[in-house]
Amino acid sequence: MKIFITRKIPETGLNILKKDYEIELFPHDRIPTKEEIIKGLKGKDGLLCLLSDPIDEDIIISEPKLKMISNYAVGYDNIDVKAATKRKIPVSNTPGVLTETTAEMAWAQLFSVARRIVEGDKYTRAGKYIGWGPLLMLGQDVSNKTLGVIGTGRIGTAFALKSKGFNMNVLYADEQVNKILDNKLNAKKVELVELLKKSDFISIHVPLTDDTYHLISEGELKIMKKNTVLINTSRGPVVDEKALVKALKEKWIFGAGLDVYEHEPKVHEELKKLENVVLQPHSASATFETRSKMAIIAAENMIAGLKGEIPPNCINPEVFENK
Ligand code: DGY
Repeated sequence: MKIFITRKIPETGLNILKKDYEIELFPHDRIPTKEEIIKGLKGKDGLLCLLSDPIDEDIIISEPKLKMISNYAVGYDNIDVKAATKRKIPVSNTPGVLTETTAEMAWAQLFSVARRIVEGDKYTRAGKYIGWGPLLMLGQDVSNKTLGVIGTGRIGTAFALKSKGFNMNVLYADEQVNKILDNKLNAKKVELVELLKKSDFISIHVPLTDDTYHLISEGELKIMKKNTVLINTSRGPVVDEKALVKALKEKWIFGAGLDVYEHEPKVHEELKKLENVVLQPHSASATFETRSKMAIIAAENMIAGLKGEIPPNCINPEVFENK
C-alpha cells in the first residue's frame, strides 16, 4: 500500500512506515497547496498530514483508494472529519505525548510576558542597558496570584498542575468538574465571566469548534484586569485577533503570549510591532522527544487504519460500525 506524507516528519515514524509501505513525501519544506495535496494523494491508500494542511471534502473524495487519514497533531480542526466519516475513512490524531510539552510552552510564555524576558533580551542586546534601575523592566509577580485556566482537558490540567510551586489560586472554566484539579490544587470551577474578571493569568486550552470560535473577543478582553497576562497555545481563532491587538495597544491588559494565530501562518502585522506580546511559531509541541513520539503514534495509527483495524487514536470510530 502507498502513503502520501505532506511534510517530512521525524525518522522514528518514517522508519516504521517504510518497513511495509511505499511512501511518497512532499518534497518541499513548506505547506503544500490544496492542488499539491490532491496530486500527491493520487493512487495512495493513506494520507499522513499536518495541522497546517486543510483537508477538506474535495481532497478526501479526490482519491477513491484513500482508506486512512492520520493527522500529525492532537488538534484536528484542519480536517473535515464529517466528510471522511461519510466516506468511511478513519481519522486519527496524536494525543497524550504532547501534553506536558505544550503545558511547558504555556508556562514559558507566561513567564516571558510577566517578566518581559524577550523585551529585556532585545533591550540588553541593543546596548540600552547602562545601569541597574529601580523602575527598569518592571513586570508582574506570578507567585500567589490567581491563575485562570480555560479548558481543562489533558493539556489544561497539566498546565494547571504545574502552578503548584507558585502557590496560586486556581480557577477553571470547563463544562466538566475536574476532580484532579479540585483535589490537588483546591481549584474552583467558575463561569467564564468570573474567571476573566478575577484572574491575573489566563491560559486557553480548548479545541477549536463552532462553540469556541472567538471565545475571547472584545467584550471578554474588556472585563479582564489591567495586569492580566493572556496565553494562547490552543488554536488562533479561539481569540479574536483584531480585538486582542486593540486590547494590547490600549493596555486593557498587561500582555499576551501567543503560539497560534487566527489566520495561521499569517501573523497580524500590528502584533509584530507590539512589545507586550510574545510570539511563537506554533511550536508548543516542538521538542525532539515529543515530535519523535508524535511521529511514532501517527505511523501506528496509519498502519492500523490501513489494515482495517480501529486506529488507537481514532477520532471517528463510528466508521467501523457495521463494517
Ligand atoms: C497540536 O498537536 O494540535 C498542537 O497544536 C501542536 O503544537
